[in-house]
Amino acid sequence: MLVVLLTLWMWVGYLMGFVSLVVSQSTLHDAPSSTTPIDPELFAKAITHAKTMAITNDPNHRQHIQQHQQLLDQLQSGNIEALYTVAQSLNQRGAGDDRITSVQLWHALADGPAAHVLSAVALGFSYAEVDKELALKYFVQAAQGKGDGGPHQAAAFNAGRLFLELNDAASSLAYIRACANVHNQFPAYATPQLTQTCQEAYETLSLHIRQETTSPPGIEDAAEMFLYSSIDEFPEPNSKEFAMWARGMEYLEMYATLVREGNARGEISGNKKGQTYLLAAQQELEHMKSGYGKNMSELQHYLIDIILGRVQVLMTAMESEDGYEL
Ligand SMILES: *[C@@H]1O[C@H](CO)[C@@H](O)[C@H](O)[C@H]1NC(C)=O
Repeated sequence: MLVVLLTLWMWVGYLMGFVSLVVSQSTLHDAPSSTTPIDPELFAKAITHAKTMAITNDPNHRQHIQQHQQLLDQLQSGNIEALYTVAQSLNQRGAGDDRITSVQLWHALADGPAAHVLSAVALGFSYAEVDKELALKYFVQAAQGKGDGGPHQAAAFNAGRLFLELNDAASSLAYIRACANVHNQFPAYATPQLTQTCQEAYETLSLHIRQETTSPPGIEDAAEMFLYSSIDEFPEPNSKEFAMWARGMEYLEMYATLVREGNARGEISGNKKGQTYLLAAQQELEHMKSGYGKNMSELQHYLIDIILGRVQVLMTAMESEDGYEL
């Protein structure tokens, strides 16, 4: 399934998001600033570079000098935004050693107690082509945000895209949906353009999952994806509907355990018990469909039918034989 999906997704690059917007907000002069501990040697490199950042042909020379002095002052106190500004400058300058120093600075900021969101985004981009799992770790961290620094909407999309590359469609749906829905809970962190891009990406992904005929999702894929398969986030956690779904999955899990353990001991599993579990799972899911069918997305209908179809096959088989694995 996923191989086909990926080729369809190649046209979508990583989203840069509103990095520049956040930077300009966070360098507001009197914003309360936080600081971070940092390795002295690395810190010395940051200071050395910051001093060279004064060289300019800026027409507003006086103002520039003033800002530069402010940057140096903030830097001396270990200010996170100042360190981040220096890291960006180092990275743009782009000589080999400067690049390495910038990445080290981002690590110090993102891995430290501050869990600095924009540094995590920068690391996500740095690793995207060379180490996808590491890039994913940082995009996920940025997508979760921290304090007043997130969630980062574009990072959520990028995490979703990487999850798909790593064959995890359920997590991909989860993160792209998170990107599409940032505006509901955190309007200040969402832009209409990114919201629309992510809504469209979510619909595209949902459609491709349903249209995949070469190797359609199995029962386990379907069960994993279901909760992330409605852009309206149906069913809501702690709701009646959610509990219905969860019970259905528990019964299936009990069936799976029964069959697994029976097979492991080399004996015929409790046929009656297995049938009871399957029947109970079927009932929960049928209730869900009849009671909340109109609340479910098309993808959720598609997935629940895959599960119910498989359950029916197992029940039919059990009438004559022993249990099969899910
Ligand atoms: C299901 O959809 C109906 C009609 O669209 C709506 O009134 C109801 O609140 C929804 N229920 C849930 C649990 O989402």
